[in-house]
Amino acid sequence: MTKLFLPNTQATQQLGITLGKNLTAGSVILLEGDLGAGKTTLVQGIGKGLGINESIVSPTFTLINEYIEGRIPLYHLDLYRLKPQEVTGLNLESYWEGIEVTPGIVAIEWAERMPYLPDSYFRVCLKSGEDGDRQLEITAVNCQMIDNLISS
Ligand SMILES: Nc1ncnc2c1ncn2[C@@H]1O[C@H](COP(=O)(O)OP(=O)(O)O)[C@@H](O)[C@H]1O
Ligand SMILES: [Mg+2]
Repeated sequence: MTKLFLPNTQATQQLGITLGKNLTAGSVILLEGDLGAGKTTLVQGIGKGLGINESIVSPTFTLINEYIEGRIPLYHLDLYRLKPQEVTGLNLESYWEGIEVTPGIVAIEWAERMPYLPDSYFRVCLKSGEDGDRQLEITAVNCQMIDNLISS
């Protein structure tokens, strides 16, 4: 597990950019943390790192947004409005198995609500600090951790 201190929004974005530049197709990022913790900000950075120009907005109501203009596709999901049993019906595994969809990066906000998990994934937990900063913990489960996570 790697712990990172993110002093401001830009630091969260920059980490996302590094992930977007380095992650391979089929990578799943499970994002946990309260409302306002910075999950969408991180995904916006991932989009930048992938070369997506379209603005990335929270899929709280649409459930999933797909962006295909970058290096590899980005699938951005938000499970906030769902109960775990509702998540089961979504067939989320088709995204990370890449069977019916082009393999890409799958970023899932409110991953706490997932009733089942992929075989391999990055777990990212974001917490607000006392001075308005954020603390991030990233764990690579059955996959290779990205080197030099905080690099430009
Ligand atoms: N490292 C950080 N330090 C301070 N503020 C941050 C940081 N990262 C993100 N933010 C801010 O937190 C706010 C909420 O972020 P958002 O990404 O929408 O959260 P979430 O998707 O987790 O609800 C945004 O205004 C964003 O600019
Ligand atoms: Mg969000």
